[in-house]
Amino acid sequence: MGDWQAVCYRGLFSSFLVERPFPEPTMANEVRQIRLLNRIEQSELVSWANKEGWNPGLHDADLFWEIDPDGFLGIEVDYVLAGGGAIIRHNPTFGFMGLFIMRPEYRSRKLGTTLWIARRDRLLSRLDAGATVGLDAVDTMVPFYARGGFVPHARQARFEWVAPSKPRAISSDITPLAQIPFQKLIEYDRDCFPGLRAHYLELWTRQKDAHAIGVTKGDQIVGYSVMRRCVSGWKIGPLFADSFAHAQELLAAHAQRSAGERIFLDAPQNNPAAMELCRSHGMREVFGCVRMYLGVAPKIASHKIFSITNFEIG
Ligand SMILES: CC(C)(COP(=O)(O)OP(=O)(O)OC[C@H]1O[C@@H](n2cnc3c(N)ncnc32)[C@H](O)[C@@H]1OP(=O)(O)O)[C@@H](O)C(=O)NCCC(=O)NCCS
Repeated sequence: MGDWQAVCYRGLFSSFLVERPFPEPTMANEVRQIRLLNRIEQSELVSWANKEGWNPGLHDADLFWEIDPDGFLGIEVDYVLAGGGAIIRHNPTFGFMGLFIMRPEYRSRKLGTTLWIARRDRLLSRLDAGATVGLDAVDTMVPFYARGGFVPHARQARFEWVAPSKPRAISSDITPLAQIPFQKLIEYDRDCFPGLRAHYLELWTRQKDAHAIGVTKGDQIVGYSVMRRCVSGWKIGPLFADSFAHAQELLAAHAQRSAGERIFLDAPQNNPAAMELCRSHGMREVFGCVRMYLGVAPKIASHKIFSITNFEIG
């Protein structure tokens, strides 16, 4: 363990961590290097996510790269890229770790642990002191991340739904997001996400092969959502709304666009209205992740979150 890391363990995270929570990597006669990924390697990482069955959006790799090109770290073993992950700096006080994948043939050798610690520490070094880092953990990985200082916050259930071929009528309050002043969208979004993410929002809501809509009352936004085409079907994320009724209006408009196709939503279980939305439409829970935070959990309007933006970069 390097000096800087040791200081972190003793100081910054001493309230979270027991001493030396992770075992040392196994010794092997091989050359290892941890470094930033280039654009091609980052794209490869997203293609591994597809192989894992995570069903990325068609343009996720491009968008994630544009959002933070310094936000991808990998581990090389004997000059071969063995694994990688995202370390996204959303703003000075919030970062996100995702897309943590090792090639199958390199797993269970503690290489993932080595990479993960390096990613966490590199991300923290890119943020202000006292910043919060989030991640979405598959259930089996929760104890691993907890040993690294992350605390479980809320589980997000992935629901699958086939939109009916004869969808409900669309509310006249539904407006294409492109027609809503962007500044209003930024202001609405910041209640539901830890801090500002103007650049992310701009790219995400204007991406190709997507349906980005808002619900308005007068000149106020009372909800918005983005449905993007994925390798299989569509994913809705985010879906933020002031009420169950507005969330339902957004969902109905998406359903009309994707009638007969598969739609996925990642709904936080700490919002009963989100659970009700999914269950009342007969959606099926197929997967889930636990949102965990290192540092103080951000204050966000949980009751407005019907689907998070994505598991990969937050
Ligand atoms: C998760 C993953 C990156 C870990 O990489 P790795 O090099 O195998 O990790 P390590 O050998 O350092 O082990 C770290 C932890 O990963 C998990 N793990 C290790 N081997 C695993 C395997 N074959 N399958 C699933 N999880 C495994 C264990 O929880 C382990 O913790 P432990 O040491 O306390 O038991 C790798 O298993 C992987 O790519 N899995 C598929 C993608 C995924 O699930 N990513 C995490 C999403 S939250």
